[in-house]
Amino acid sequence: MSDTRAARPADRVCVVTGGTRGIGLATARALAETGATVVLTGRDEAAAKDAAARVAAEYGVPVSGRALEVTDSTAVRALFADVAREHGTVDCLVANAGVLEDALIGMIRDDLVDRMLGTNVAGTLACLQAAARVMMRKRQGAIVLLASIVGERGNAGQAAYAASKGAVSALTKSAAKELGRYGIRVNAVAPGVIRTDMIAHLPDDLVAARTADTPLGRVGTADDVARAIRFLCGPDAAFVTGQILGVDGGLVL
Ligand SMILES: NC(=O)c1ccc[n+]([C@@H]2O[C@H](COP(=O)([O-])OP(=O)(O)OC[C@H]3O[C@@H](n4cnc5c(N)ncnc54)[C@H](OP(=O)(O)O)[C@@H]3O)[C@@H](O)[C@H]2O)c1
Repeated sequence: MSDTRAARPADRVCVVTGGTRGIGLATARALAETGATVVLTGRDEAAAKDAAARVAAEYGVPVSGRALEVTDSTAVRALFADVAREHGTVDCLVANAGVLEDALIGMIRDDLVDRMLGTNVAGTLACLQAAARVMMRKRQGAIVLLASIVGERGNAGQAAYAASKGAVSALTKSAAKELGRYGIRVNAVAPGVIRTDMIAHLPDDLVAARTADTPLGRVGTADDVARAIRFLCGPDAAFVTGQILGVDGGLVL
C-alpha cells in the first residue's frame, strides 16, 4: 500500500510554526524522527535557532530555525517563498503558533481580541495561504492546524480564545473543500488539556478537575499531540481531509 503522489516521509519538507517549545517543538521532533527536513519558527530568532540545533543533533536531519511573527502576513509570505527556494517545495505545514489569554466576557478588552484573533485566526490563515500557494504547484501537500477542545465545547473565561479556535475548525473544513482538488489535505487536531507553558497559569485544582473528567485519567503531553499531527501529515492519512481530530483523552465525551 502506498500513496504514490505523496513525497516519502524522508524526502518531505515540513514547516512547523511556533516550534520553539510545547506542542510545536514536540512536532518538529516527531517529524524529524521520520527523516523529514524541518523548518521550525518562533518569534525570537535565537530561540528558534537553538531549538532547531537541538532537534537536528538529536535526529541527524536538516532542521533550521527561523524568526517568524505570524501576524505579519508579509513576513509569512517571505518565509514560505524562502523555504520553497532553498528546499524546492513545502510538503507539510503545521500551523501551530497560538496564544491563550483568559478573560471573563465583561473584562475582554479590544487588544485581547486583537491578539487572539490576530494570532490564532489571521496568523493561521496567512500561513495556510502561503503554504497552499507553494503546494499547489506540485499538486500535493498536507496541512495541519491547531484547533482546541475549547473551540468545540466552549469554556467559561475563554470566550475570545474559544471563538478563535472555533474559527480554526471552520477554516480547516473550508480549506479542505477548496484545496482537495490540488491534492492538498487539510486537517486539524483539537487538543484537550496538554501540559505546556500555555496552561502553566491554570490552578492545580482546575487541572485536577479536568483530569477527573478525562476517561483516560491524565493530562496530555506535547508528544501525545505531536504523534497525532505526524499521522495527519503522513501517508497513512492519505485519504483523510477536513477532519478535526480530538487529542484529549476522551475529555470531549
Ligand atoms: N496546551 C494546551 O493545553 C492546548 C490545548 C489546545 C490547543 N492548544 C494549541 O496548541 C498550539 C500550541 O500550544 P502550546 O501549548 O504548545 O503553547 P506554547 O507552549 O505557549 O507555545 C506557543 C508557541 O507559539 C508561538 N507563538 C505564539 N504567538 C506567536 C506569534 N504571534 N507569532 C509566531 N509564533 C507565535 C510561540 O513562540 P515564541 O517562542 O516566540 O513565544 C511558541 O513557540 C496553540 O495553537 C494552542 O492554542 C494547546
